[in-house]
Amino acid sequence: MSARLVAAGTAAAQQPWSRPVAPPATQEQPWWRSAVVYQVYLRSFADGNGDGIGDLAGLRARLPYLSWLGVDALWINPHYPSGGADGGYDVVDYRAVDPEYGDVSDVEALVADARRLGLRVVLDVVPNHTSDRHPWFQAALADPDCPEASRYHFAPPSEEPPNNWRSLFGGPAWSRTPDGRWYLHLFAPEQPDLNWRDPVVAEDFERTLRFWLDRGVSGFRVDVAYGLYKDAGLRDNPGEYSPTLFGHGPEQAMTWNQPEVHDVWRRWRAVCDEYPDTMLVGEVCLADLDEVALYSRPDELHQSLSFRLLKSAWDTPAFAEAIGSALEAFGRVGAPVSWVLGNHDKDRMVTRFGGGGTGLARARAAALLLLSLPGSAYVYAGDELGLPQAHVPDEAKQDPIFFRSGGERAGRDGCRVPMPWNATTGVGFSRDRSAKPWLPVPAEWKRHAVSRQTRESGSVLHLYRQALAVRAEHPALGTGEATVSTRGHVLTVRCTGGGRTVRCVVNMGADTALVRSRGRVLLESGPGVHTSARSVALPPDTAVWIAED
Ligand code: GLC
Ligand code: CA
Repeated sequence: MSARLVAAGTAAAQQPWSRPVAPPATQEQPWWRSAVVYQVYLRSFADGNGDGIGDLAGLRARLPYLSWLGVDALWINPHYPSGGADGGYDVVDYRAVDPEYGDVSDVEALVADARRLGLRVVLDVVPNHTSDRHPWFQAALADPDCPEASRYHFAPPSEEPPNNWRSLFGGPAWSRTPDGRWYLHLFAPEQPDLNWRDPVVAEDFERTLRFWLDRGVSGFRVDVAYGLYKDAGLRDNPGEYSPTLFGHGPEQAMTWNQPEVHDVWRRWRAVCDEYPDTMLVGEVCLADLDEVALYSRPDELHQSLSFRLLKSAWDTPAFAEAIGSALEAFGRVGAPVSWVLGNHDKDRMVTRFGGGGTGLARARAAALLLLSLPGSAYVYAGDELGLPQAHVPDEAKQDPIFFRSGGERAGRDGCRVPMPWNATTGVGFSRDRSAKPWLPVPAEWKRHAVSRQTRESGSVLHLYRQALAVRAEHPALGTGEATVSTRGHVLTVRCTGGGRTVRCVVNMGADTALVRSRGRVLLESGPGVHTSARSVALPPDTAVWIAED
């Protein structure tokens, strides 16, 4: 490693995206504005009955771990009875639990246990499409004239599909029914899109929200919240299908982001307002961040996930732009940013950031960055263990993206592999050691096991736990305001809150950086940080939190 020092200090040039944003609401902060939400991929978290599939009983038994870790809430990927075509995102019954995961009483017990531990439970809701096995779609297949048929987008038999829309998972967005009609599916053919212009659809989803809110859940992550409505005339999209890095844009103007969808969120917000302390967080994958922020206006979704960090390469311009543009766009509508570095749809960050020791060091530094930023932070299960993207052999793959692209796209299985809990055979995922997990766990994952990392003071797990504890003590972290600036390869986020300032400084370069500071280092993401009276020497791919006096 080069010993050359690169100066970095508070005098860094102010960038256009580093302007302070509007101060947060003055009333007492609702919990979700700065919550750390842990995303549980239910199928892969913990298997309570030994069938190799994660379930609610397994999750319940592991709640003390999440409380020990120090998160505020958990969001559970879909738990509904499903056709199994897209990891539970093809729902057959929205007011039930897939028997593989348990039953409704297990959700109630989970919520009650979680509450005792100070944790909130957020469910996933999937309003853009159902499963093709949903009773409505089955009825519509059997009888084109039944009322259920108008809850989907069907078109009469013809040579060509009704328009040029493409499925996000590959191929055309239209498939044929056995009687030759076309039906729309913006995802897999097993996920027919709902027609939100039929009022029964809206009514039914409001019933679903109330069903779960009445059982004590603290809200919903809303799948594909930028979808639901389609162009009323189902006109051709104007451009080639070519989603940009950050999401959909004008080339798909007819498919996504229709103005009518905002009324749905206003109605859902009104429902949530009847239940204190609940919230809606939307998945809004649009290229224009200002459009994304509109989904979180004060009377719509409480927040929309910000995927910029998740999609940014490890360098200062990309990260600074990701942070600054999100602070600005969401600040303009008075919503907190909901930061995301990993989820069940993207490669694990250790791998995205270069893999091996480098990827891990960067992922550790990124964790400090994530947890310093004002707003809520979403932590994907296993990221607190520094899990890399797993190699899943083709014959074990389950993701429709892999199959619909004819194997061209690897698919998302590698970030959905079961959690390693201990270093025994089966890594403690299933109660029964000999159970075959639903996706194979790489043999070397024993070394990432929770049981090992709890014993190693320098582990990623301990870093997350410490960072969450420090964040809870310092209002500047998570609840404050922030500005972002760069100097060469050094990124600085200056967070103020509660009358104090904490700087998160990340060295994204290849050389040790010298950070001018008289402050106190609260936490460092890796070894080799040296502090003197006036400066902090920061090794490459390392972050520190510095409390300024
Ligand atoms: C969202 C989910 C993804 C799913 C898709 C279709 O993007 O995060 O996992 O495949 O919606 O429901
Ligand atoms: Ca199970």
